[in-house]
Amino acid sequence: MTQRTLTGTTLETLVSLSKRRGFVFQSSEIYGGLSSVWDYGPVGVELKRNVKDAWWKSMVRERDDVVGMDASILMHPDIWVASGHVDSFTDPLVECQGCHRRFREDKLEGDTCPNCGGAFGEPRQFNLMFKTFLGPVEDSAAVVYLRPETAQAIFVNFENVQTTSRKKIPFGIAQIGKSFRNEITPGNFTFRTREFEQMEMEYFCEPGTDDEWHEYWMNWSMVFFTSHGIRSEKLRLRNHEPDELPHYSKASADVEYVFPWGWDELETISNRTDFDLKAHAEKSGKDLSYFDDQQKKRFVPFVVEPAMGADRAALAFLADAYDEEGEGKDKRVVLRFHPDIAPYQVAVLPLSRNDRLVPTARRVYDVLRPHFNTQYDDSQSIGRRYRRQDEIGTPLCVTVDFETVEDDDAVTIRNRDTMEQVRVPVDNLETAIRDQLDLMRNDSQG
Ligand code: GAP
Repeated sequence: MTQRTLTGTTLETLVSLSKRRGFVFQSSEIYGGLSSVWDYGPVGVELKRNVKDAWWKSMVRERDDVVGMDASILMHPDIWVASGHVDSFTDPLVECQGCHRRFREDKLEGDTCPNCGGAFGEPRQFNLMFKTFLGPVEDSAAVVYLRPETAQAIFVNFENVQTTSRKKIPFGIAQIGKSFRNEITPGNFTFRTREFEQMEMEYFCEPGTDDEWHEYWMNWSMVFFTSHGIRSEKLRLRNHEPDELPHYSKASADVEYVFPWGWDELETISNRTDFDLKAHAEKSGKDLSYFDDQQKKRFVPFVVEPAMGADRAALAFLADAYDEEGEGKDKRVVLRFHPDIAPYQVAVLPLSRNDRLVPTARRVYDVLRPHFNTQYDDSQSIGRRYRRQDEIGTPLCVTVDFETVEDDDAVTIRNRDTMEQVRVPVDNLETAIRDQLDLMRNDSQG
């Protein structure tokens, strides 16, 4: 078993590694950047995709009782009236009378401006929804909102999905997609941004069973993170105080992670009761109740919702994987990702760009690509390439050398965590890699 003595690190180190290795770039960088907006590069997009795929697999594909959907970002504006977002999706905003910077009042420490020490004006409620116009006429009748959560699209499609999937209660509808919030104080890299992706699931159940399901989905969420490599001691569940509860919730709990700046929210699991279905039934005039044909009774389902940010989850996986070994020029930075989360699972490295090595190295690459997300890397010295793969967290490197070509048609597999190397015939390579990745999966259970 590999020892996971992960050192942890600062946010600055993660930001700089992200830029250097192609995880995340500042948006619009060549124009001076757009504040708090980020773009995922070639390595980061693989990381985030793996996070979303792992969630979808555990949440939808491996379960009988959850189906998926993918709705539009723009929806009928009445949806946001019924859901309470037009009236209640607000944060208290204060403006400094000296420098005119704006802050979220509930996140401030102290009564004076942290920027200039000035006094604040009266707080006011600021609605976080972005507005735009549908069609060519920019008047109030054409106003639509960029959705601030993916959940409402699920509620308004409840009947469509239930009747076409023929699911019986209890069952859930999951969705992954972009959401937008005009946050007053975004920050901490990709943690709080104005455009982000959510992974949400609405679980429809019989009233009276909702507390049990709330408990169930809180535990499920913790297991999702630990079974994909996040250390359990870096996670905790925290129940919301009554004054923190969102307007739709009877009870909410956050899964929190110790980010480089301290404990902070990764996911919220809420008991939304029948608030949303009833609100949409009333506003739209459509009956959104459910008939239970075994019990021969009709009711409006209660809803339990695990709601996670894909960007936040990717940041937590990145922070949790970060490790450093050795010192000075021997220092090794390694991201100890779980193999299903690592951007690439395997890298094929010819010892050099020598013409005699390249055809075999390309053949090995072709053998592996259909089975694993594989990178081919032949630039710079082999030592530097190992370091580069460690820094993007590739679990296994496969090296093709002159012996491979001239002698045994075997390659060397190097393990990211132990740095042990084993020689394996190309004919057995796929199985050998599968076995090593399985071992690493077991090793990285949080
Ligand atoms: N449908 C319920 C809902 O949206 P939320 O607690 O407001 O609940 C759920 O959001 C998750 O979405 C959060 O736990 C977080 O992971 C992510 N999230 C929310 N606002 C975000 C932001 N501004 N930037 C990045 N992620 C955000």
